[in-house]
Amino acid sequence: MQPLFRLFRYAAPYRGRLAAAFVAMLFYAAGSAALAYLIKPIIDKVLPSREDLQITAVAIIAAYVCKGLGSYFSEYLMADVGQRVVTDLRNLLYHHVLDQSATFFKQRTTGQLMSRLTNDVGQVQRAVSETIADLIRESVALAGYAALLFYYDYGLALVCMTGAPLVLYPLVRLGQRLRRTTRLSQEALEHMSHVSAEAFTGHRIVKAFGAETREAERFGRAAFRLYRANMRVTRVLSILPPLMELLGGVGIVAALWYGSREIVSGRLTTGDFASFVAALFLMYGPAKKLSRVNASIQQAVASSERIFELLDTHSEVIEAPDAIELRKPPDAIEFRHVRFGYDDARHRPILKDVTLTVQAGQMIAIVGQSGAGKTTLVNLLPRFYDVTDGAILIDGVDIRRVTLKSLRSQIGLVTQETVLFDDTVANNIAYAAPGASIVEIEAAARAAHAHEFISAMPNGYASKIAERGQRLSGGQRQRLAIARALLRNAPILILDEATSSLDTESELLVQDALANLMLNRTSFVIAHRLSTVRRADLIIVLEAGEIVEMGRHDELLARPEGAYARLHALQLLGMKRDEVTPAR
Ligand SMILES: Nc1ncnc2c1ncn2[C@@H]1O[C@H](COP(=O)(O)OP(=O)(O)O)[C@@H](O)[C@H]1O
Ligand SMILES: [Mg+2]
Repeated sequence: MQPLFRLFRYAAPYRGRLAAAFVAMLFYAAGSAALAYLIKPIIDKVLPSREDLQITAVAIIAAYVCKGLGSYFSEYLMADVGQRVVTDLRNLLYHHVLDQSATFFKQRTTGQLMSRLTNDVGQVQRAVSETIADLIRESVALAGYAALLFYYDYGLALVCMTGAPLVLYPLVRLGQRLRRTTRLSQEALEHMSHVSAEAFTGHRIVKAFGAETREAERFGRAAFRLYRANMRVTRVLSILPPLMELLGGVGIVAALWYGSREIVSGRLTTGDFASFVAALFLMYGPAKKLSRVNASIQQAVASSERIFELLDTHSEVIEAPDAIELRKPPDAIEFRHVRFGYDDARHRPILKDVTLTVQAGQMIAIVGQSGAGKTTLVNLLPRFYDVTDGAILIDGVDIRRVTLKSLRSQIGLVTQETVLFDDTVANNIAYAAPGASIVEIEAAARAAHAHEFISAMPNGYASKIAERGQRLSGGQRQRLAIARALLRNAPILILDEATSSLDTESELLVQDALANLMLNRTSFVIAHRLSTVRRADLIIVLEAGEIVEMGRHDELLARPEGAYARLHALQLLGMKRDEVTPAR
């Protein structure tokens, strides 16, 4: 029940609406009880002698209006509160998820996270708006009818209620079962969402390798799992109404048995008895709804547990409570005995004892074979991950002691995989600096040699980039990413194979532009091409997470047996291959 109380806390800001909804429910209950009450005068007076016909007619209409208005407003207000609570919860969850570290996103897939955000929150929403409304309104109605029963004849009422305790135990047990099965169902839904998201994202690979049938089968299995889980929920849910109906039957039999005796002995009029039985019948509706309320609440609890699980996950990259602002551009960046292992393999270090100092304005090139740990090394600087051991210091301050925002605001980043958003070209570049003027955007694009192809697009800078940037070539996408990083105008620039998709000619042009921009910036450049690396103030050769060589281009080349010289020799072969590749 604890998740439920936590949910209620999210409803606290909407107290006013809840109170109004409650008042509307009282109207609904009063109208319902009045209708049951009116049966007595109808049978005892109106039908035999047309006495009080008009006033009774007015009363019936008034009761319906009262009940109807109460029903409408309580429904509307409760739905409103439910939707508001759920919207708040969604926004909170979304923000929370976005704040998580890279590790968090690696452990969960997009499909899974989307499922929590849509399906689980949706399940909670149904519970909050429909169920809570039902719970309150039907309880009030039930209490009204019960009061009426006791008012007529409390002996009779007691007799009818004898069955009620019997049904409580199965209700509670079924509720628990429902919570488990709902969880299974939501998990199956999440799995299905994950399977489909994966295939849609990788649709080209799926097609290229003719794996449509295999993927469809995988989806089929996920869908079947969901079907089974849903049927388990249905099996539990469908027991409830017959159970409640049976209870009603028992009550009526009891009423007949006891009531007929009372009528024969003259202690009860037929009108009293008819009114009584009518109230009993009317009770059946709320009782049935209430039996489902518990069910929905259990379902909501199952889903909110999954939501809170996510909300309570805090990634390991957290800001120190007394974090300080990194105000000025750094003078020196130091990696001090940095060790790092991804948390699923902490025993297998990816970086082993990396020590290095970079002065402001320097360009550092990081070279090494694929898998050596180059990307990992630069990812530590914006704190996508925290070092396992050792420290990274900016002007002598451990980066774990500064605010994430101020740290990251110092960094312009071009990642290995280019990420573009479904937006205009201009907005994609301005992503780094919202509010940048078109002049600034264009300047950045020119520097990244992107201006030419952007101008050639039908709408220029206002052209939309289709989802995932599929209307652009790899090289064009990279140039947009570079323009974006340049517009950021941050003192530290990280280029992770930022020019790998460019042909040699464009690369040389972009290199030139980058060289100018790097003049008064500290840059970390991961590159395979020699032309990029040659210019660096410091070249670091990484091999299996260790710095095996460090120095300037000519210094390193002077060691013919060195790792850099070896890479360089391979590179020369690569250069030749580039020359025969036609430019894009
Ligand atoms: N998110 C990750 N989780 C676990 N291991 C990873 C992760 N990213 C990379 N690795 C591992 O770390 C090593 C270095 O990867 P990376 O830094 O990407 O190399 P490079 O950029 O030099 O090609 C590789 O062995 C890779 O398998
Ligand atoms: Mg890499």
